[in-house]
Amino acid sequence: MHRIIKEKLPRHIAVIMDGNGRWARKNMLKRVMGHKKGADAVRTVVETCRKLGVQYLTLFAFSVENWQRPEDEVRALNILLEEYLMKELQEMKDTGIRLITIGDTDKLPKTVRDALLSVIEETSENRGMVLNLALSYGGRDEIISAVKRVLKDSKSRDIDENTITKDFFSRYLYTADMPDPDLLIRTGGECRLSNFLLWQLSYTELYFTDILWPEFSRDDLIDAIMDYQQRERRFGLISDQLSKD
Ligand code: FPP
Repeated sequence: MHRIIKEKLPRHIAVIMDGNGRWARKNMLKRVMGHKKGADAVRTVVETCRKLGVQYLTLFAFSVENWQRPEDEVRALNILLEEYLMKELQEMKDTGIRLITIGDTDKLPKTVRDALLSVIEETSENRGMVLNLALSYGGRDEIISAVKRVLKDSKSRDIDENTITKDFFSRYLYTADMPDPDLLIRTGGECRLSNFLLWQLSYTELYFTDILWPEFSRDDLIDAIMDYQQRERRFGLISDQLSKD
């Protein structure tokens, strides 16, 4: 049993899954084993969010900076991702989850891209929770790629400085069709954004926990959501203005 208020459920939760390496070291295992255990935590969080009725779950699975890790770790992460996709496809179909990605996925190995494309395709009609994997993702890279696309479009359509509003620009981001996250959870004890969703997190409630990602459980997720539900989101206004309507 939990005390989550259904009406105040975050519509979109984003997660920085940090601490796999430290969990492995703590347990005298290789780093890759931390990621493997991390993939189990992914399953738990996806299932819990879906059951609670969260509409969008964005997971930071691989950053643009992560390409600089040792080659065998990068390879292991890609293999884990591919395994995850193959193992979870049926579950996603059965439970109505739709998979999408953000990031420069062209950089991923072909086997992973193929697996992604097929899961995205096979779940595209699903109308349950959207599972959004950030892969080869960087927030600054996303903004720069959006600017480049605006410039490109300006050659064929009428775009001038008045056209460029926040809404207009948002449509050029990877997250064009998604609401901004309501809640960001970062595990592993660091209190930073690490180039994640820099534009989209402007008004997001941030939740940092020392728990290492492989140990992050259903109950920990529920604690994070309950903490979120106690906060007052003012979006720059004052309390009185919020209670008026
Ligand atoms: C950060 O921990 C985690 C990552 C770089 C990768 C996240 C990947 C997974 C959770 C597993 C695979 C994902 C899916 C979607 C199946 P870290 O290695 O930076 O930990 P550390 O800071 O303790 O070294």
